[in-house]
Amino acid sequence: MNAAQPFAAPATIADYVAATPHKVPGYADLHRMAMLLLAEHAPAAADILVVGAGGGLELKAFAEAQPRWRFVGVDPSAGMLDLAGRVLGSLGARVDLRQGFIDTVQPGPFDGATCLLTLHFLQRQERLHTLREIHRRLKPGAPLVVAHHSIADGDDAVAWLARSAAFADRAGAGFARSRLAAAKMADGLPLLSDGEEGAVLREAGFSGVALFYAGFSFRGWVSRA
Ligand SMILES: C[S@@+](CC[C@H](N)C(=O)[O-])C[C@H]1O[C@@H](n2cnc3c(N)ncnc32)[C@H](O)[C@@H]1O
Repeated sequence: MNAAQPFAAPATIADYVAATPHKVPGYADLHRMAMLLLAEHAPAAADILVVGAGGGLELKAFAEAQPRWRFVGVDPSAGMLDLAGRVLGSLGARVDLRQGFIDTVQPGPFDGATCLLTLHFLQRQERLHTLREIHRRLKPGAPLVVAHHSIADGDDAVAWLARSAAFADRAGAGFARSRLAAAKMADGLPLLSDGEEGAVLREAGFSGVALFYAGFSFRGWVSRA
């Protein structure tokens, strides 16, 4: 299945802004942490690359916090990019939204990049390609912030995904339903263990890989180009 496919569904897009904070523990704080990790190394008037920018929620958080940053946001889903445009409103004047994959983005170089809630959809080879292409577009030493579903080494993927599904279950469907949803996710998503996550980032050229966030099955790392 093409990773972008679920994000072409009108119902997914219509629900995205309301549903996502209920699925990802500390979603707004994840955006603030990502912004701070970028700001540690980026200048006040930075150029930031946002990969998987659909929905526009991290772009909105970054643009509000950093009035002089400019952004390129890339995503294959036209519907998710339309939503990003609506979410951004007048902040969109500082955002260049591109439909496509990383290969369609200009060489930059950028002062920092993020890829949030996206890499868990990509098979290892596509992940590696995406990360290498991000690396090629960053200034030396520029930060990359990523966060997505990932399982600690040797841990039970279905158990952790079920906890995330239970976190998202605001209707109270119960743990049995969460476990079923988790089994489906474990089958469908090419998840990596945290050791493999570091390995693929290093293989793409990044160094100083450090975990900064964990919320049930969601984990986030910062690294430097
Ligand atoms: C769960 S959404 C995350 C959107 C946003 N980053 C956030 O955190 O709210 C995943 C997004 O990744 C996009 N996507 C899927 N495959 C991609 C790829 N290879 N490169 C960039 N974006 C991709 C989808 O179209 C979708 O908009």
